[in-house]
Amino acid sequence: MDLQTKEKNFIINTYNRQPGITPFIQRGEGPYVWDASGKRYLDFICGLGVNSFGHCHPQVVEAVCRQAKQLMHASNLYYTEPQILLAERIVSHSCADKVFFGNSGAEANEAAIKLARKYGKITKGNAYEIITAKRSFHGRTLAAITATGQPKYHKGFEPIVEGFRYGEFNDLESFARLITDETCAIMVEPVQGEGGVYPAKEAFLKGLRRLCDEHGLLLIFDEVQCGMGRTGKLFAYENYGVEPDVFTLAKALGGGLPIGVMAAKGKAAEVLTPGEHASTFGGNPVACAAANAVFEIVTAEGFLDHVAKMGDYFRQKLRELAVGNVVEVRGLGLMVGLEIDGDGAQVAKMCQENGLLINCIGGKILRFLPPLIVNEEQIDAAVEILRNALQGAEHTAAEGKRGEKGL
Ligand SMILES: Cc1ncc(COP(=O)(O)O)c(C=O)c1O
Repeated sequence: MDLQTKEKNFIINTYNRQPGITPFIQRGEGPYVWDASGKRYLDFICGLGVNSFGHCHPQVVEAVCRQAKQLMHASNLYYTEPQILLAERIVSHSCADKVFFGNSGAEANEAAIKLARKYGKITKGNAYEIITAKRSFHGRTLAAITATGQPKYHKGFEPIVEGFRYGEFNDLESFARLITDETCAIMVEPVQGEGGVYPAKEAFLKGLRRLCDEHGLLLIFDEVQCGMGRTGKLFAYENYGVEPDVFTLAKALGGGLPIGVMAAKGKAAEVLTPGEHASTFGGNPVACAAANAVFEIVTAEGFLDHVAKMGDYFRQKLRELAVGNVVEVRGLGLMVGLEIDGDGAQVAKMCQENGLLINCIGGKILRFLPPLIVNEEQIDAAVEILRNALQGAEHTAAEGKRGEKGL
């Protein structure tokens, strides 16, 4: 039985795997992955933003191997060094005072939602509503899909969790209108990722900060995708000069290993007490050793300047594509979206056939999360593959129209 058949037989069918990679991704190094036939791909999706420092970064691999030989797990009944050192690192580089460790983005957001509800109880008696944005994405657990402002993720799992309301992203008034005596928090992604790569406007985030201060609400930023250097700053909120009360991280933080963090500041950091929240694997020594190595990489001198520079370069190259079906180039740093008038899935498939991995969201938006170590030559190579794919898709669409008209 080949692997694809085994996958069909033994794995619950929740994923649309990319067809055509023969038969699976076998190896990764830096910005490249190889399939089992030996074909090389330039990876501009990076495991959905996880392998931000390139595949198998030697510093991360070394830290993981060293820690795995020493202690792989101890549980949170005990103190472990990598976890505590990582907490200190996150706190010393951010606006947060304390952190909680989990294993994924959804788990980090669940922690933030629980914290916000408890905060609402303490400060207002029974405030439990959280306002999130339409088109947002916060994960797949029940509260996280409810926080996610996209009805398609709720469908089939109703009743969803009580107490979520949805404002229009980048429309401060629409958030202001939703605040009631029951509101405890506002939660947004500074750059919406899965919803289509939409950066927040500075006035919007500053306005949310003001609203939260005026109404005694927690401002929560989901930085699961846009954090850890992706936008050219260590945390995306730094681009806006707005500090949240709570922010969440996952994806790139572990350099390839699963980890999630909820970081909290001031009063928010003191809300949860022993026994109120926990995670067996949270703060696992190996994942934390990887994340400590990631912190050394991302905070090395010049690293974030490189990300910002490459982000500007990549977006400029996309703007210069001059292909008819390009509608808009969006993004911040190396979190980049290209909206097209055409079949995005077909473009992504053509790119893959020609050795470039990208992701299509919502049918028409191409999402790029290249490794932060990417250079101009690799960006040029990716843009060339993309140009050919876009031209190919444009040609196919024109042929289709001619066919419809019987020409
Ligand atoms: C902004 C954001 N939040 C949360 C999540 C959920 O993360 P995870 O899949 O690790 O639970 C994602 C995943 O794509 C995300 O992009």
